[in-house]
Amino acid sequence: MEYSRGRFLQPHTHPSILPTISPEKARKFIDQNEAELHFLLLAIYISMGDSKETRFAFGQNWADFLKGISEERILDAENSLKSMLAREELKGLQILDIGSGSGLFSLAAHRLGAQITSFDYDKDSVACTQKIKEQFAPDSNWQIEEGSVLDQAYLEKFQQFDVVYSWGVLHHTGSMWQAIMNAADKVKPRGQFFIAIYNKHWTSIIWKGIKWFYNTSPSFVKSTMNQVFTLIIFLWLLVSTGRNPLKLERGMDFKHDVIDWIGGYPYEYASIDELDQFLAKRGFKRTNLKKPYGWTGCNELVYTLVPQK
Ligand SMILES: C[S@@+](CC[C@H](N)C(=O)[O-])C[C@H]1O[C@@H](n2cnc3c(N)ncnc32)[C@H](O)[C@@H]1O
Repeated sequence: MEYSRGRFLQPHTHPSILPTISPEKARKFIDQNEAELHFLLLAIYISMGDSKETRFAFGQNWADFLKGISEERILDAENSLKSMLAREELKGLQILDIGSGSGLFSLAAHRLGAQITSFDYDKDSVACTQKIKEQFAPDSNWQIEEGSVLDQAYLEKFQQFDVVYSWGVLHHTGSMWQAIMNAADKVKPRGQFFIAIYNKHWTSIIWKGIKWFYNTSPSFVKSTMNQVFTLIIFLWLLVSTGRNPLKLERGMDFKHDVIDWIGGYPYEYASIDELDQFLAKRGFKRTNLKKPYGWTGCNELVYTLVPQK
């Protein structure tokens, strides 16, 4: 750096030599170097001691969420199922809820008349699903288990289902495409496959770094991040959508969704085209789509398994 003579040494800061980073340039750079950036992130993780599994404690967040469960939220969850599956009721249908989390959607499907089987990898999420069942449907034959969608031996015991529902789950397994394939295998011919997967955007890799940092940080850093991101995301959603960010759909709540957004790790993502192509090869045709409000939110997609002639 050059310095000018004067009373004090002043660095020359000629505007033309200052780096100008526009979002467009950043997007192009990330698009062109995506593989290298993933490699770099991986190298950073390993060098900082990320050889052990880094996972977000989903179940703890769901346990807190359940404290605010209400009839209104259950109805919102029911409406989300009805509108995406394009059905007024689910009577007589067998539904598999993979990664049931709070259990809210299993409960909603049960109330709409379906026979439910739910499982989740996280013990605390399983406990949440059991709790919501005890509270709202104690006498039902809704089946709840602990299991992983990546465990093929575990999945073998299940027959195929009329509807396989896995909302916001398969991208958190650490092996998204394998998880999608395993879940899709459990759909009956003419059955529906309802998934939600984080949208691929040039900022996705930045979220990946944020989520990893969150999960490897001590609790005081996590709570600071919770507060800072709550404010940023609130303002961002308010300005970009013109809607009240506190009024979420699907019976969710803003506070717990923000924690899930900054913490949800492992984290992968896919574009709508990538998902359509992957599933078309396995006989699925997309019948419904709901895009997220933000760039990197979840695309909600419903596919039907078209029987082979
Ligand atoms: C973001 S939550 C979504 C919960 C619920 N589906 C909903 O829509 O509210 C993701 C859930 O996926 C579960 N999960 C993560 N990996 C899994 C795996 N390999 N098998 C089954 N569930 C898994 C997590 O424990 C968590 O409860």
